[in-house]
Amino acid sequence: MIDRYCVFGHPVAHSKSPLIHAAFAEQTGESIEYTAIEAPLDDFTGAWRRFTAEGGRGANVTVPFKEEAFRLSDTLSERARRAGAVNTLVLGGNGLTYGDTTDGIGLVRDLERHGVTLAGARILVLGAGGAVRGVLEPLLAAGPGSLFVANRTAEKAARLAADFSDLGEIAGGGFDAVAGPFDLVINGTSASLAGDLPPLPDDLFAPGATAHDMMYGAVPTVFLRWAAERGARTVDGLGMLVEQAAESFFQWRGRRPETAPVLEALRQAL
Ligand code: ATR
Repeated sequence: MIDRYCVFGHPVAHSKSPLIHAAFAEQTGESIEYTAIEAPLDDFTGAWRRFTAEGGRGANVTVPFKEEAFRLSDTLSERARRAGAVNTLVLGGNGLTYGDTTDGIGLVRDLERHGVTLAGARILVLGAGGAVRGVLEPLLAAGPGSLFVANRTAEKAARLAADFSDLGEIAGGGFDAVAGPFDLVINGTSASLAGDLPPLPDDLFAPGATAHDMMYGAVPTVFLRWAAERGARTVDGLGMLVEQAAESFFQWRGRRPETAPVLEALRQAL
């Protein structure tokens, strides 16, 4: 029986993961099947159990199931435990489910690929929801000089920062508490979806700074356009998407695919 993988979501039809993993499989010569499955909102655990009973070896998990995937995992990576969410499930030989989250390491790898030095950097992260919680452990592990989490709801940012304060120099507050300049500003809010921009000071960026948006699309987000006008180098979330997928693929197959050609093909298809 061919090893089966999938992405679980609801909705899931828009997911680019099947395309990405098909490209990884072709490139590495790994013989796998990878599909998209819309799991029922009230029974993600059942969907995972059925999938593994039918030859499923692993899965990616997207909105809104990342927390339930965390809860059903028998063992967890440290970064998933910190995130409180799982985007990668692996069925072990012992029948136990291992949960990992690869979003944060995907972000770090994509930034490194763009030549961004994280060690010692002054980093600002916008947003304090699930997307941001999911990337903080790998970001702090890269050894930034400081990391400030700014959020519309200031208390949420302060609490989030407190949860990670044992891992490095991290603090949190409202947008009014943002004091630049920063070497790297990462937008992890969903504000771009509404075409909104968090209220930010004009002198946010240090010379040579990079602005990263976890979102991506056919055109740059409002945040990236705003950052480019202020002289920052801009990076959208498409590279992070491909890098997180590559790390999932590695967890399943023990092979590390080359991401650059897959990212290039995906960019063309946008
Ligand atoms: P996700 O899983 O994408 O992180 P989430 O947990 O709902 O989703 O978090 C959304 C984030 O985007 C939050 O930080 C939210 O700010 P609040 O905590 O104050 O709600 C932020 N956000 C959403 N819309 C925004 C907007 N228009 N302006 C600024 N921040 C916004």
